[in-house]
Amino acid sequence: MTIKEIFDSMDYGTAPESAKEAMAWIEEHDGAFGLFIDGGWTKPGQTFDTKNPANGERLAKVTQAGADDVDRAVQAARKAQPGWAKISGHERARILYAIARLVQKHSRLFAVLETLDNGKPIRESRDIDIPLVARHFYYHAGMAQLQDAELPDREALGVAGQIIPWNFPLLMLSWKIAPAIAMGNTVVLKPAEYTSLTALLFAQICEEAGVPRGVVNIVTGDGAVGEAIVTHEGIDKIAFTGSTDVGRIIRRATAGTGKSLTLELGGKSPYIVFDDADLDSAVEGLVDAIWFNQGQVCCAGSRLLVHEPVADRFYEKLKARMAKLRVGDPLDKSIDVGALVDPVQLDRVTKLVEAGADDGDVFQAPAEMPANGCYYPPTLITGMSPASSLMQEEIFGPVLVATTFRTPEEAVSLANNTRYGLAATLWSENVNLALDVAPKLAAGVVWVNGTNMFDAAAGFGGVRESGFGREGGWEGLLAYTRPRRKTTTLKPIAAFPAPKDARVDALDRTAKLYIGGKQARPDGGYSRPVWSKTGDLAGHASLANRKDVRNAVEAATGAAGWAKTTGHARAQILYYIGENLSARADEFAHRLNALTGARNGKAEVERSIDRLFTYAAWADKYDGAAKPVPLRGVALAMNEPVGVIGQFCPDDHPLLGLVSLVAPAIAMGNRVVTVASEPFPLAATDFYQVLETSDLPGGVVNILTGSHAELAAPLAGHLGVDAVWSASGADISSLIELESAGNLKRTWVNNARGRDWMGADGEGREFLAQATEVKSVWVPYGE
Ligand code: NAI
Repeated sequence: MTIKEIFDSMDYGTAPESAKEAMAWIEEHDGAFGLFIDGGWTKPGQTFDTKNPANGERLAKVTQAGADDVDRAVQAARKAQPGWAKISGHERARILYAIARLVQKHSRLFAVLETLDNGKPIRESRDIDIPLVARHFYYHAGMAQLQDAELPDREALGVAGQIIPWNFPLLMLSWKIAPAIAMGNTVVLKPAEYTSLTALLFAQICEEAGVPRGVVNIVTGDGAVGEAIVTHEGIDKIAFTGSTDVGRIIRRATAGTGKSLTLELGGKSPYIVFDDADLDSAVEGLVDAIWFNQGQVCCAGSRLLVHEPVADRFYEKLKARMAKLRVGDPLDKSIDVGALVDPVQLDRVTKLVEAGADDGDVFQAPAEMPANGCYYPPTLITGMSPASSLMQEEIFGPVLVATTFRTPEEAVSLANNTRYGLAATLWSENVNLALDVAPKLAAGVVWVNGTNMFDAAAGFGGVRESGFGREGGWEGLLAYTRPRRKTTTLKPIAAFPAPKDARVDALDRTAKLYIGGKQARPDGGYSRPVWSKTGDLAGHASLANRKDVRNAVEAATGAAGWAKTTGHARAQILYYIGENLSARADEFAHRLNALTGARNGKAEVERSIDRLFTYAAWADKYDGAAKPVPLRGVALAMNEPVGVIGQFCPDDHPLLGLVSLVAPAIAMGNRVVTVASEPFPLAATDFYQVLETSDLPGGVVNILTGSHAELAAPLAGHLGVDAVWSASGADISSLIELESAGNLKRTWVNNARGRDWMGADGEGREFLAQATEVKSVWVPYGE
């Protein structure tokens, strides 16, 4: 277009960014890249092409790492880790700071390279991705600096294996690497096969910034390389961002290995527009929600829910705006929508839409589309029914599906009608309505009158099948550190055997299960005698089965009102439980001594009362936070209950172990299904008599007795359970992690590591963090 033509038409001209420097950088490497291992580059081995999706041309050749390369990278990271963790937080802070400075210095090169490799508009890589990358390293330089003073009780995990997707290649790298190395871990990172280039440039930056050898290792390649990282024995932690299907594979592959795991997976995030919203702003918001990065965003606002009275007007405005979107060469600064990452993705989006579009009315814009390259037009499909495949499945493209609602209650139920729970957006000028709806949304992030806002200070991550763990903020550091405590190897304790001349009492003294606030006979009708050390019959314990698990979960689900009670009210009940236990302290102490054969029953009861008081104290004090984010507004970090938690008590300390798991969970508003100590179950069944007299609503605490090995799979596999904790034996840790993959629930298992329940390690923030989910709620605030 000539200048004259532009003046005549008053149309936008093109404003292309030059690819020259980025291409020159690729040329410096002869167009072929090796791996970055132990501070040096390997020669390019077996390679594959990385292409520019805007025109299909090859940009460079990238090495497909083999299992032996992964092994060398892990060895290098292992070797470097103790030294890296040992230097002061300040020394690490200086290096992270240097990385941030260098990212800024080379920001244009990074932005152009990212756009060439991924197809995203240069406006986005230049103004969003790369500045957020620098911000992430600055922020975490600060975390390294503060670590010694603020996190003295936590330590690095060791070597982190990190696997990232192609939608925000460098940004996801920074979300993974910055917190990991800030806290003293070393990393082996694999970029996605479509988009390796900025990770390789980053490796070069690490050399310049003085990152010691082996601290950061970058291996490129496909899913097989990811698998080799996931299954490598030298890795302590896996952090993954990508599809829910692969997340599930990784959950299963790491089950029982003792590796810690965080998963940031897919989403189908609702975008709710109320009738009192500023509709023009909400339309602009949608441009950022679903056409940002061509909709290839895990938290994209891809499901539009519009209040019926304004729906027609809103769709009209939206279509008018869509008609003005400019789709084209991503390197053109005046382009809104660029290319999808690869023909494979284009094909996937095309097929998904073709298969499901008949359920609604399709509108596509603009008329002008580039002839070649991986382009897909911005698409709106209205009139969808909530069950349509396109309303449920993640499309991961520039496709918005829409339906209407009549009441706020209906909006919430439609919004939550998904297996995912990553993010949600809501628009309303009514602060009462907005802040009433926000807590009801099943999502890790909620944006009020804004969308797709990110910052290093605000935790990001999902619930349900969107994964678990948070990235960013103080809460994000939990994923890269563990409590500094002495761990012992857990020894299973066997129940006392029946004496030779065992005589079972004629009287039925079978302790029942405790479900929904009532004593319940076990479904199977089985029980077992419980013997004391001296060979006396202490009673019979019920043997719960799969059906009892189902009943208990149902009861817990029904007690959802507990989550809405105030911390103050929960505290009162916990104090009351403590008081009632105290009134029967001697009886419990005696019973514990008889059951376990130990002499510390009195001390265990006292500690249990103390612990109940601790969590009564915490119930109204485990604060959230207000994060100062460099955008207009504030990000509130709200500690919400996880939901229904399944729990397996330790063998030892049958009363204190149970109290130590139940009390923090219910203090934070969760409901529990707790399986008592296997060898000594009767302390738990005595304890529910205390609960019965303590005003605890039925269904908040449900207690089962029986075989942990038999109950682990049904409880961990139950779709109504949101998290499972185990302080029981190692064998059930792996069973729990394996079964949890179904709905990707959170797990917290001990993998044969013992804990001193009588000491300080038996309580505290670690438990509270496990009992809560941080929801980041972004609200307008200030100018
Ligand atoms: P993907 O989940 O297969 O790829 C993400 C990363 O995992 C890549 O680095 C890949 O090499 C690696 N990977 C693949 N298989 C693996 C395995 N078995 N073990 C370890 N690592 C493995 O995603 P893909 O195939 O690129 O995209 C498919 C769909 O996934 C997309 O259309 C989208 O719906 C979703 N997706 C979601 C993302 C998100 O941020 N939530 C990001 C990327 C994709």
